[in-house]
Formats: sequence, C-alpha cells, structure tokens
Amino acid sequence: MPVEHLAIIMDGNGRWATERGLSRSDGHRAGAKQIARVVEAAREFGVKYMTVYAFSTENWKRPQDEVRVLMELIGEFSTRMLPDMMKNNVRLRTIGRTSDLPLLARTALLKAIDMTAKNDGFTLTIALSYGGRAEMIDAMNKMLSERKSDAPLTEDEFRNYLYAPDLPDPDLLIRTGGEMRISNFLLWQLSYSELYVTPVFWPDFDREDLKAALESFSSRDRRFGGLSDKK
Ligand code: FPP
Repeated sequence: MPVEHLAIIMDGNGRWATERGLSRSDGHRAGAKQIARVVEAAREFGVKYMTVYAFSTENWKRPQDEVRVLMELIGEFSTRMLPDMMKNNVRLRTIGRTSDLPLLARTALLKAIDMTAKNDGFTLTIALSYGGRAEMIDAMNKMLSERKSDAPLTEDEFRNYLYAPDLPDPDLLIRTGGEMRISNFLLWQLSYSELYVTPVFWPDFDREDLKAALESFSSRDRRFGGLSDKK
C-alpha cells in the first residue's frame, strides 16, 4: 500500500544549528527551506497529502525572539512558496488555533490558502498553534454549540468537528531528531498510523531519507486491529 497521507514532526532544528555554531533561528530558517524540498520529493513518490507540525500550542512558551522568528518564517514561507505551489498544483491548508498567530503571518497564509484553494494535485497542511488535545476540545465545543441531535455520537460524526475532517488519516508519521514521542500531534488521526523515527535532524532530512522512510512503510503489515492478510 502506498503512503497517501504523510505526517511529519519536524524536530531537530535547534540541535542542527548548535552543532554548527549557529543560532536556533538559523536552524529554523534552514528547516523552513527543507519543507519545499521534502514536498517536491513527496510529490515525486506519489504522496497526496503531507501534514507538518510547524508550531505547537506549547511552542508559545519558547523565548519571545524565537517565536518571532518562527512567525516571520511562516509568513515568508507562504509568500515564497506561492508561485511554486501554483505551478505544481499544490493546495495549502492549516490546522490549529491559527487566530492566535500575528496578523502579518496570518495575512500571508490566508492569501496563499485562498490562491491555492482549487489546486488538487497535492495538499500541504501546516499545523500552527496546534495541539491534538486542543483540537479535540475545539471539536467538542463546536459540537456542543452546533449539534441538534441527541442520538449517541459516533466516531464518524465526531470527526466532522475536527479542523480538517476531509483529510484521510495519515498512513505514516515520520519524526526527525530521534525522540520517540507523539508530542500532542494529531492524536485522533494517528490512531492506526505507522511510526518512523529517524535521528536525522529536520534541516538535513532529504529525498533519500524520505525514500528510506517510505520503503520501511511499504514492508510493514498494517492490521488495523484485525488479523494479517499475509497469514
Ligand atoms: C523543532 O525544532 C521544530 C519546530 C519547533 C518547528 C518547525 C519549524 C520549522 C521547520 C520552520 C518554520 C516553519 C514553517 C512552516 C515555515 P527544535 O527547535 O525543537 O529543535 P531541537 O529539538 O533540536 O531543539
């Protein structure tokens, strides 16, 4: 089975920079550039959806200067990537509490989201001010204010209140930087995703690393709680 939806925790920008005697911001800058390269490789390998964890609800606790640089990079990224996304039929989306973002970043994002809304070759979703628990709380609050029926809730109905209910669940989650954690990412959607952790820091994660992750996925036996087809 090919990977249709790839989710990525892009970790290790800070360590990548420290190893080189650079600032953490330089690491994030290199990390932002890497997204475009990985999108290109993912498209080449037939992936249709890619969701990246760019800023968590917890990341607001980082030093103000680092948060400011990340927000600038998000704005710059949306503007710089736009011509490429139009050329390559890539749609940009976001998930998360994006109204928390500063106006400049939000304006650039909204423009790119609007301009690419009809592109349907590949969808890049950026998780911004995102937390898996926050998403479920936001979904429940939305449901409490909108739901008319008092029938027992089903998983399919609950899903409709999530940030992007139309995206398929990720087949594969890649985490760079070596930590073995989910870190509050896509808690609902990752239920049956395969996990792949690599020690490679995000700014170094390239086409060959992606290929290795996808190859590892293709050799796995996904059972979704049932029994293997192979037996
Ligand atoms: C983790 O590195 C990475 C992040 C906090 C966010 C990822 C951000 C980018 C790739 C750049 C900006 C994003 C966009 C969409 C333009 P870390 O600082 O936790 O690394 P460390 O674990 O080595 O300290």
